[in-house]
Amino acid sequence: MKVGFGCDHTAIDLKKELMEYMTEKGYECVDYGAYDAKVRVDYPDQGQKVEKGVLICGTGIGISLAANKVPGIRAAVCSEPYSAEMTVRHNNAQIIAFGARVVGNELAKKILDAFFGATFEGGRHAERVQKICNIEAKYNK
Ligand code: RB5
Repeated sequence: MKVGFGCDHTAIDLKKELMEYMTEKGYECVDYGAYDAKVRVDYPDQGQKVEKGVLICGTGIGISLAANKVPGIRAAVCSEPYSAEMTVRHNNAQIIAFGARVVGNELAKKILDAFFGATFEGGRHAERVQKICNIEAKYNK
């Protein structure tokens, strides 16, 4: 599976470590930047680059807010594995987001394990996700 990784300047080292972790597990990791911790970048610019994968900023909030403005994207901020698993099983989220200033590196790996190990359950959850899509369509007219 191809997994995109995007971050702002707060999360360069964490992103690098997580990309190595996921590559070792057999995922094809694509780096959408940022690349230099000394160069500040704006999380909205980074948040719109990834369609399936991982977004990291200081809190995970700003970058996920930006990602969720891209039509069809469901990006979930999760600071622990249970929510990361459930946002795939019930929300069919394509993007997991978290904060480099919030979660430690080992917890971030557990969050990725939970997110990428989960499968969307469909059924009544598909109907609810469709309702989210309907809201988007209503306001994008
Ligand atoms: C950058 O200082 C910080 O605002 C950003 O990484 C993020 O936490 C915003 O939501």
